[in-house]
Amino acid sequence: MEAAQSTCLFLLFLLTCGLPPKVAAEVQESSDGPSASQEPAWLTDVPAAEEFIAAAEVAIIGFFQNLEIPAVSVFRSMVQKFQDVSFGISTSSEVLIHYNITGNTISLFRLVDNGRLNLESKDIESIDDTKLSRFITVNNLRLVTEYSPMTVVGLFNSLVPIHLLLMINKTSPGYEENMHRYQRAAKLFQGKILFILVDSGMKGNGKVISFFKLKKSQLPALAIYQTVDDEWDTLPIAGISEEQVQNFCDGFLKGKRLRENHESEEKAQKVEL
Ligand SMILES: *[C@@H]1O[C@H](CO)[C@@H](O)[C@H](O)[C@H]1NC(C)=O
Ligand SMILES: *[C@@H]1O[C@H](CO)[C@@H](O)[C@H](O)[C@H]1NC(C)=O
Repeated sequence: MEAAQSTCLFLLFLLTCGLPPKVAAEVQESSDGPSASQEPAWLTDVPAAEEFIAAAEVAIIGFFQNLEIPAVSVFRSMVQKFQDVSFGISTSSEVLIHYNITGNTISLFRLVDNGRLNLESKDIESIDDTKLSRFITVNNLRLVTEYSPMTVVGLFNSLVPIHLLLMINKTSPGYEENMHRYQRAAKLFQGKILFILVDSGMKGNGKVISFFKLKKSQLPALAIYQTVDDEWDTLPIAGISEEQVQNFCDGFLKGKRLRENHESEEKAQKVEL
């Protein structure tokens, strides 16, 4: 109970501390480009659906009994808005049975934590652009998810209890190269640690940086956070290397802490409890 409570505190803290409201636009920046199809893919059998899900970091399928309901056009209108997400539709009874669908359901499948999230008949009846956009934005977790007030909700809803944050100025020299290495490291910990990018060049993210007791002058830095018991550690770095990220994560998983002060603080607190 303690742990759940403190996680909520952390989450509330992040959510309520003057973060910028315009999230949807930022999330879409990580688009795969204009080549993405503007229509949902038609999934006519189970192998097609399975292949479709396996091929995307985030896939969303509208499982509809028929196409006459208003939710279908709302669903279709999302394709253009979220170009980094794969959209599919199926009305095939074979597919619906396979995915345990009764009624109409919109399901989001994602690779990073093997998660499946559903909007079921009740939600579907009253769905509109705003609700569906929010559902997608919140749950659009990638191998590396950019931190925002919306994605933080999805990150804390994931069953993966350890989060690694890279705090880096996106407009700084070498950013792209660092991100590629961070991406590669993320693959090594898929399903075990959620990798997050915090743009320190964004004013609103200052609160996240100070939560980990880091100063602007110490960035870029890594912070690792265990949502179950609120344990965390940080590592200021000059630039990202895959090996360094791996060592930092492995060390944390094994109970090693680099921040000495923090560790003694934690111990003191635990003794008090
Ligand atoms: C459908 O439900 C059954 C029983 O709960 C479960 O074993 C199966 O994995 C589900 N199928 C899918 C595709 O999630
Ligand atoms: C981010 O980097 C850019 C370019 O180096 C710089 O102009 C800007 O002030 C930095 N922002 C912050 C908040 O450090």
